[in-house]
Amino acid sequence: SDPDLVARAAAAKAKLGDKVFILGHHYQRDEVIQFADVTGDSFKLARDAAARPEAEYIVFCGVHFMAESADILTTERQQVVLPDLAAGCSMADMATAEQVAECWDQLVDAGVADSVVPVAYMNSSADIKAFTGRHGGTICTSSNAKRALEWAFEQGEKVLFLPDQHLGRNTAVRDMGLSLDDCVVYNPHKPNGGLTAEELRAAKMILWRGHCSVHGRFSLDSVNEVRERVPGVTVLVHPECKHEVVEAADMVGSTEYIIKALDAAEPGSKWAIGTELNLVRRLANAHPDKEIVFLDRSVCFCSTMNRIDLPHLVWALESLADGRVPNVITVDPETEKFAKLALDQMLALP
Ligand code: 13P
Ligand code: SF4
Repeated sequence: SDPDLVARAAAAKAKLGDKVFILGHHYQRDEVIQFADVTGDSFKLARDAAARPEAEYIVFCGVHFMAESADILTTERQQVVLPDLAAGCSMADMATAEQVAECWDQLVDAGVADSVVPVAYMNSSADIKAFTGRHGGTICTSSNAKRALEWAFEQGEKVLFLPDQHLGRNTAVRDMGLSLDDCVVYNPHKPNGGLTAEELRAAKMILWRGHCSVHGRFSLDSVNEVRERVPGVTVLVHPECKHEVVEAADMVGSTEYIIKALDAAEPGSKWAIGTELNLVRRLANAHPDKEIVFLDRSVCFCSTMNRIDLPHLVWALESLADGRVPNVITVDPETEKFAKLALDQMLALP
């Protein structure tokens, strides 16, 4: 990265001292990660944000829904800064508050709403988290989706899983022993979600029709092709991948799980990793004694994660050092109250 920008970021950070705390998601660019005080997956970063009440400014190097969650979990005095406001998430955008309210009305009409517990993936807007809190549900991340579903099925007979159908389906089938027939997909772009009242009554998992535009691109062909290309390879994928990909893989887990698995791997072992490319490249560089390849070379970086680059970070830090607070992410108090219920429920999962 540009040495001038590196020096400017370092100087602004040093001037701010303990006033600023920089969080970096594992999918961020190396040029940004080098300035992070902590790195993590979305679960770890949510906890780390809550654990720093003394920092006036939390600079979130990640995407919008993560910065919203940090705002909800930090004190009122703290301000959360997202270095580029255009760093959204296409998956989170796939479920709007209006669409989810309509879905709930349909569950009420079908006579099943009382037995439904919403579970919202961290990768959702604060509005969706607030909906989840209002209806007695929980947030989950890819690190704790199994525990979240176990908890939810103790509270009710059915789960409405928002917005990632793949994480919901993979967790239900792999970890909860449910069958694919127990799952239905609610499509917000079809009248009544494309489902009849009978289908809703019969289903155990009602999956929202959302997906990650990065992980959703890995295919069964990606797995077959890499097995041919790299004989003896272990295929390790993120649970946001399609069910058929997860079924064909050798191991499945969140970004923190992937990092730990590679730390524990034998020298000389071969790995194909199906997750975001910034992380896979960083892991390949960190483990020169292992052969680590990207599961499918036609899949790209997460374009919104990549919007946070060194120029944006420098701008955010220099603004803070000059006494201006740019790009503050604030969740309104009413939304925050209910979203926090759902986030606290997640943090309290056994
Ligand atoms: P985790 O950080 O929970 O593994 O989620 C991956 C992701 O897609 C974040 O946007
Ligand atoms: Fe959203 Fe997927 Fe990018 Fe994560 S990797 S921010 S889920 S689009």
